[in-house]
Amino acid sequence: MWFNVSMVQSGKKKVLCFETDEQGISMKIYQGVVLTLEVIVLIVKMYATWFYSIYKFFVPPEPKSVKGEIILITGAGHGMGREMALSFAKLGGTIVCVDINPTGNQETVEMIKDSKGKAHSYLCDVTSRTSINEMAEKIRKEVGDVTILINNAGIMPCKPLLQTGEKEIRTAFEVNCLAHLWTLQAFLPAMMERNHGHIVAMSSMAGVIGLRNLVPYCGTKFAVRGMMEAVHEELREDPRDFSGIKLTCICPYIVDTGLCKNPKIKFPSLMKILSPQEAVEHIVDAVRREYHEITIPSSLYYINQMFRVFPRSVPLHIKDFLDSGLEAQ
Ligand SMILES: NC(=O)c1ccc[n+]([C@@H]2O[C@H](COP(=O)([O-])OP(=O)(O)OC[C@H]3O[C@@H](n4cnc5c(N)ncnc54)[C@H](O)[C@@H]3O)[C@@H](O)[C@H]2O)c1
Repeated sequence: MWFNVSMVQSGKKKVLCFETDEQGISMKIYQGVVLTLEVIVLIVKMYATWFYSIYKFFVPPEPKSVKGEIILITGAGHGMGREMALSFAKLGGTIVCVDINPTGNQETVEMIKDSKGKAHSYLCDVTSRTSINEMAEKIRKEVGDVTILINNAGIMPCKPLLQTGEKEIRTAFEVNCLAHLWTLQAFLPAMMERNHGHIVAMSSMAGVIGLRNLVPYCGTKFAVRGMMEAVHEELREDPRDFSGIKLTCICPYIVDTGLCKNPKIKFPSLMKILSPQEAVEHIVDAVRREYHEITIPSSLYYINQMFRVFPRSVPLHIKDFLDSGLEAQ
């Protein structure tokens, strides 16, 4: 009789294992059956989720209430940040407005209070981790635990890479990208304690496709999407239950806030420049329906997904045909 000898891991120890040829064959058949069953379960799960997603496309989830939520918005002193603050305040949220610009931030707070909403103003340069942590401590004492965190503050150097200075590049990454990590470290633990919360990140269509004159900006916005996906996985794979913490990533095209100074659009009906109010309607809806990621306009999401399956030069032809983007400023 022949024996097969192998080392098998048993807990922390390795154990020498002897088995006859017959036992070896039975073991291989057993492992084959288990693997086949696992693949069948995987295929069933994939199809079930796929059909469920199609169903959800036609029957979207009901928008959740944000009444009583403490909603922190960075960059609340202007543009989409301000519009989000006004919209979420109307829906009954307590808004924590955060900005580096005291005048703009205070104006947003006054506008909310004038329409009988609840708002608080905190000045903070989101590039400073120390300032974020100090502010977080103050907010916890003065307002309570933040339950919806909207990382919106952003800047956009718009010129060819070789004309962009080191400081501009570093600051773009600090505001658009690193600040998200500092606020997550400051506010996520309280959400995890209660298994309740929502993190919203402003990426951009420049975080989905590369665009000329926006090399560092595209880098920051692609990074935001990557970080959001990774945080999602970290929460999903944690043995504790964090299913009550939702994540939404927003990818607008061009919104008329003054950030994009020289937009170039060949087909305005397909890729219209939106007002901040129009864009924020989509953002608030996506947050309330707990969508994982949206583009504004939504058609760009499907166009991008569709053309990504073609060889790389095919979507480039479409991009050349659409001939849209930003001129250097
Ligand atoms: N406007 C667009 O077309 C567009 C398109 C796609 C994505 N986005 C993204 O959406 C977000 C909001 O854009 P917007 O157009 O409303 O911008 P905006 O310029 O109108 O407002 C940005 C706000 O962020 C604040 N801010 C800047 N640096 C800060 C810092 N270090 N600390 C704290 N606050 C700071 C500014 O003071 C300002 O109030 C940004 O992240 C932007 O990249 C904008």
